Amino acid sequence: MPTELPASALYSHPSLGRLWGKVHISCSPFLHRSELQRLYCLPSARIRKHFGRRSYSLLALGCADGTKESLLLKRLPRPTSLLALDTNLSLARRAARRLPAFQKSAYRADLTSSLSLQFLSTRLSPHPTLITLFGVLPNLNPLPLLRSIRRLMKKDDLLLFSANLAPGQSSHTGALSILPQYDNRPTRKWLEAAILRYRPKLPQGHLEFGVFPDPKQKTLARIEARWISPRKIHTVFSSRRPTSSQVEAWIRSTHMRKLARYLDPLGEEGLWLVQPSSHPASFSRDPNSPKR
Ligand SMILES: C[S@@+](CC[C@H](N)C(=O)[O-])C[C@H]1O[C@@H](n2cnc3c(N)ncnc32)[C@H](O)[C@@H]1O
Repeated sequence: MPTELPASALYSHPSLGRLWGKVHISCSPFLHRSELQRLYCLPSARIRKHFGRRSYSLLALGCADGTKESLLLKRLPRPTSLLALDTNLSLARRAARRLPAFQKSAYRADLTSSLSLQFLSTRLSPHPTLITLFGVLPNLNPLPLLRSIRRLMKKDDLLLFSANLAPGQSSHTGALSILPQYDNRPTRKWLEAAILRYRPKLPQGHLEFGVFPDPKQKTLARIEARWISPRKIHTVFSSRRPTSSQVEAWIRSTHMRKLARYLDPLGEEGLWLVQPSSHPASFSRDPNSPKR
């Protein structure tokens, strides 16, 4: 079984944030396809309907420089407060500068750490909150992350998240068809820089890209970049590629309710607007764990 590097190791240093920015500019379908940019404007009507004339806050998780949030906010009233949060503080600060809000703050936080999430819960505003989570679910283990976010949510809050989808009906075949979006020069340069910075140092090796089953959910395909060295394999980067129905199983199993779904016409990306459906203390088991 390969050892996994934490996703934060690829982004947290400012130089890695800059290299990721270059990958984003040259390879991200979001920047090259106007339908994907339009996708991020669509949920505003449903969000406006939900909050009505009430003040609301924005909690932007893993926001990088806030480009996607800014498309959404162009069609929403200005939030009372904004909390921009990322493992890379310079990116979170850029998001806070870019996004409109009456009060703004930016923090470095690790969404996989319970300490970070505890701290976050002390910063949340009493207003209804719109939480955004764009481009993060592919990199982190989705069910624990959605559960942690669910625990932070008040009954009237909304979560809008994106998932990178596997086009078609099969997670594995769909993921294979988009492998070239990852196996390319700028991505290799970014990941090799992250490997050089990583401690404890990784042995000499080389990068290989492929599609593998997610170790926590075998029917879910992950695009992985693996660092192959003579005695050990490390998964350096992974991007989960669920189908829409897999995403909807995650929503149900974390006690949330789908309000709306917005899908890219090519089926490579989707946005889900969800709200809490019942008390988080009564979470169900993983949809993928064996039946009792
Ligand atoms: C693929 S980028 C997506 C950025 C942006 N939201 C977008 O959709 O273009 C993933 C983002 O999540 C952040 N991130 C990765 N792991 C994280 C973690 N454990 N805690 C907080 N942020 C994390 C990265 O710094 C990066 O900004």
